Amino acid sequence: MKIGVFDSGIGGLSVLKSIVEARLFNEIIYYGDTARVPYGTKDKDTIIRFSLEALDFFNQHNIDILIVACNTASAYALTNMQKNATYPIIGVIEPGVLALSNKIQDKSKNILIIATKATTTSKIYEKSLINLGYHNIHSLQTGLFVSIIEEGITSGDVLISTLDFYFKDLMIPDAIILGCTHFPLIQNEIKKYFNNKPILIHSGDAIVEYLIKNHNIQPESKKPKIRYFASSNKEFIENAAKKWLNLN
Ligand code: DGL
Repeated sequence: MKIGVFDSGIGGLSVLKSIVEARLFNEIIYYGDTARVPYGTKDKDTIIRFSLEALDFFNQHNIDILIVACNTASAYALTNMQKNATYPIIGVIEPGVLALSNKIQDKSKNILIIATKATTTSKIYEKSLINLGYHNIHSLQTGLFVSIIEEGITSGDVLISTLDFYFKDLMIPDAIILGCTHFPLIQNEIKKYFNNKPILIHSGDAIVEYLIKNHNIQPESKKPKIRYFASSNKEFIENAAKKWLNLN
């Protein structure tokens, strides 16, 4: 099976890594809209327009499934994308919510959702969690992490100050939804900041579980062939994949 993985930039590599490690597909096309990242600061119409343009790209590649490895695009553009494709398109929000509900049964646990401004404003995670009965939920937009990660910074003083800027007044949550696919690239630092206590929900791991359970996709024996595409600086994505994800 050939799949597409789409993100605004390099964040979707965290989802790609989970998919590759689970050996779910034998051919993968990764596309990052690096010319226009971040999506998380844009308005709804712009996010939909950019996501549909990304879909035009995938429509030329004869894929069997598209994974929208971007919470922001999943929050706003998933339905529009699904209407314009002949293959299944799966976003990361529903798998993330299901992963949380599998891991946290006690509905009074303190859940922190961190995401881009757009995803936070959509309240998509909150609404889904409230529907499931969770009632101790806090959302925080932490969009600066996206720029820092796109800059190649995943440790050190700048990151530590940013963690402090966003988190210094918070209690230690029981679980954190990493509601942006860039954030797993700094997940160890996030966890460390909270004394390694919270359970982290990672879109990549969530989607692997979801594909196996809900789409009956079974592991392949071979290592997948991956091709990288980007709207700007393709080498940047390839280098980031080599550096962070140890894939090629
Ligand atoms: N990685 C994306 C997400 O999951 C968005 C980052 C951005 O483009 O702002 O939301």
